[in-house]
Amino acid sequence: MKAIKLEKPWSVDCIEMDAPIPKAGEALLRVKAAGICGSDIGAFRGTNGLVTYPRIIGHEIAGEIISIPEDNKKNLKVGDKVVVNPYLYCGKCYPCSIGRTNCCNDLKVLGVHIDGGMAEYFTHPADMLIKIPEGMTWEQAAMAEPLTISLHGIHRGGLKAGEYCAIIGAGPIGLVAGMVAQVYGAHAILIDLVQERLDFAKQLGIEYIVNSSIEDPIEAVKKITEGAMAQQVMECSGANQAVRMTLDLVCHAGRITLTGWPKKETSLPTDMITKKEIDIRGARTSAGEFEEALELINTKKVDMTKILTKVISMEETPETIKDIEKNPGNYLKVVVKMDE
Ligand SMILES: NC(=O)c1ccc[n+]([C@@H]2O[C@H](COP(=O)([O-])OP(=O)(O)OC[C@H]3O[C@@H](n4cnc5c(N)ncnc54)[C@H](O)[C@@H]3O)[C@@H](O)[C@H]2O)c1
Ligand SMILES: [Zn+2]
Ligand SMILES: [Zn+2]
Repeated sequence: MKAIKLEKPWSVDCIEMDAPIPKAGEALLRVKAAGICGSDIGAFRGTNGLVTYPRIIGHEIAGEIISIPEDNKKNLKVGDKVVVNPYLYCGKCYPCSIGRTNCCNDLKVLGVHIDGGMAEYFTHPADMLIKIPEGMTWEQAAMAEPLTISLHGIHRGGLKAGEYCAIIGAGPIGLVAGMVAQVYGAHAILIDLVQERLDFAKQLGIEYIVNSSIEDPIEAVKKITEGAMAQQVMECSGANQAVRMTLDLVCHAGRITLTGWPKKETSLPTDMITKKEIDIRGARTSAGEFEEALELINTKKVDMTKILTKVISMEETPETIKDIEKNPGNYLKVVVKMDE
């Protein structure tokens, strides 16, 4: 089979290798589509310290079941179309015991700690597959995973209808968070430094956009919220100055969720956290959010195809990864479609 492999940082190829053989409890999938994520680009650059090499990348995977243990918990069958929950957890540690499997002490993410699914065949624990609705395209299914990330940030902040939700970073994660916020009946305010990204957000129907390279985002949010500031602030850029700014954008008794992964630490005036009594919460990957993501895509409440820049073949993938690395601004989501 073909697979997309990083031999080491800066070395990506479409290789030929033996198809995997399922172990006890695992299903074998014929992969149909796999999304390219910012974290795959980080793995290519060698900037994600969690990635070990050589590594087959890919954690945004949709495919068809070729074989599966008959006694699987979800009663999935051969021929079923599924997406992969790519965050493997131990099931025994404290976070797992309270359902927070996404921050398991021994979390293993596909394409990071273990081989991913950007390949023609892939094996995965049978209980970590989610059936997709009838009629959903493979591209849509492969984009369920990034939607779960945005959804998890929304859930971690407890966003409610009628609230203002300020989102910093209009990349795929922030744009989708904006769409979800509006589905939840909130007013989304998307903040970025790049006007093209913001124009695109407007096209998606995002209510408010703020270009923080030309106007003061604190003043802008103050004006939009008539002085109250945002009940929820989502950091989706990974920039240190954006992390710092969340404290200014949030209202008294408000919530901040941190989804972006900054490379360096951020200094924060914690007196503001005390004074405003802010809840600050991390938001890592997702937990139990695939079903809702698939439902939002299927009902077109969140149309992920709007952020789909390109569909490519396995053969085109190495060159495309190199180009995304060089020109990240040209891409939102890219999905690799395997040959039929
Ligand atoms: N927590 C998780 O599980 C998880 C999962 C996926 C991605 N992430 C992280 O979330 C972040 C967003 O991911 P993405 O794929 O959308 O990234 P992206 O790089 O495509 O988008 C980031 C956006 O932030 C903007 N930006 C950068 N600095 C800014 C600043 N100071 N102020 C305002 N905007 C700024 C950029 O212009 C860009 O549009 C990244 O840090 C990524 O590593 C986290
Ligand atoms: Zn991803
Ligand atoms: Zn665990």
